[in-house]
Amino acid sequence: MVPTYNEKDNLEELLRRTNDACAGAGIEVEVVVVDDNSPDGTGALAEELGKKYNVKVVHRPGKLGLSTAVLDGFKAASGDILVVMDADLSHPPEKLPEMIGKINAGADMVIGSRYVPGGKVENWPIHRRLISKGATLLARWLTKVKDPMSGFIALKRSVVEGVQLDPVGYKIALEILVKGNVSKVEEVPITFADRKVGKSKLGAKVTMNYIDHCIRLYEYKKPWMAKYIKFALIGGIGTLINLAVLWVGVEIFVVHYLWAAVVAFIIADTNNFIWNRWWNFRSKTKLRVQYPQFLWVSVDGLMLNLILLKFLKEDLMLELGLTEDRASVYILICQVVAIFIVSTFNFFVNSFWTFDKERPRKR
Ligand code: GDD
Ligand code: MN
Repeated sequence: MVPTYNEKDNLEELLRRTNDACAGAGIEVEVVVVDDNSPDGTGALAEELGKKYNVKVVHRPGKLGLSTAVLDGFKAASGDILVVMDADLSHPPEKLPEMIGKINAGADMVIGSRYVPGGKVENWPIHRRLISKGATLLARWLTKVKDPMSGFIALKRSVVEGVQLDPVGYKIALEILVKGNVSKVEEVPITFADRKVGKSKLGAKVTMNYIDHCIRLYEYKKPWMAKYIKFALIGGIGTLINLAVLWVGVEIFVVHYLWAAVVAFIIADTNNFIWNRWWNFRSKTKLRVQYPQFLWVSVDGLMLNLILLKFLKEDLMLELGLTEDRASVYILICQVVAIFIVSTFNFFVNSFWTFDKERPRKR
């Protein structure tokens, strides 16, 4: 599978090297070029080269994106082993026999990897290396693979057969690693060559897209963890808002601190509600039902907080034989424990009551 967009100057060399590498290893190869009506005429050239090499060309009407190109390529391919490779020669076709050999030896998926011993990237400026490393880190708990961002992969067709792949992210390898029927993955070191001709099509928008893709995959793989973390994140920001409003109320509007605290609570909690409804739980229940429910849970949570704090501070302190002079630090520790318990309580009550009509995001 070779997705192309303006790769006229790379295609012939790619096909020649791919064919040489495979012929040398006795591998029968069909190249599926998925071209998005490249203005430079890559599509027509691919047809032309089909006279010399075993090429199938999928013409799409316009630039529809890398991921969908790969998925369309999967549909068009006739073999049992699928390979995805860039057209710009960043991925050395000479590695194909080794990768396919590993599949034949029992691996479900093989990754051409820059980040295993022996792998490297050529001519990448420090910022691109850093971004790439950072991106890999974000996917840490999704897969153990060292280079899940790689665009160079080989897999058995059965890995993706019957699997609903989300073409939103262009990191198709990551998507397949998380959702595909993969049990054995191997990595083969490659030298990622910088493209010689043409320019990268993946711009700044890609970063946001990638973060969104990761969030979706975490939601898919560990839905509760993803929700809990978001809930905690929202709560953390809510706490800051609470403190800010409290301060403004007391210092600037000079109202009684308890009144300021009530206003702070309502504003911060409304903020938490908004984010949880639209971003975290994406729940559709009527607002006038849901909002009071959420506030109610929070008020309960606040009571629980006070009760817990009192218990931890007074009873437990006595139990542990702590003296009053340590109380101020102790109180903070107690409050941290109490907040943790209360947010967990809030999280579960809201999940099963306030936002129970929610369905996980499907695509
Ligand atoms: N059909 C089609 N449609 N092909 C596309 C499109 C599109 O919208 N966008 C890009 N391509 C093709 C390019 O022609 C090239 O063959 C391949 O997809 C990769 O595009 P590049 O523009 O060369 O991407 P890159 O070098 O920035 O990214 C590559 O390296 C990353 C690792 O850092 C890709 O292989 C990524 O998948 C990989 O993660
Ligand atoms: Mn490239």
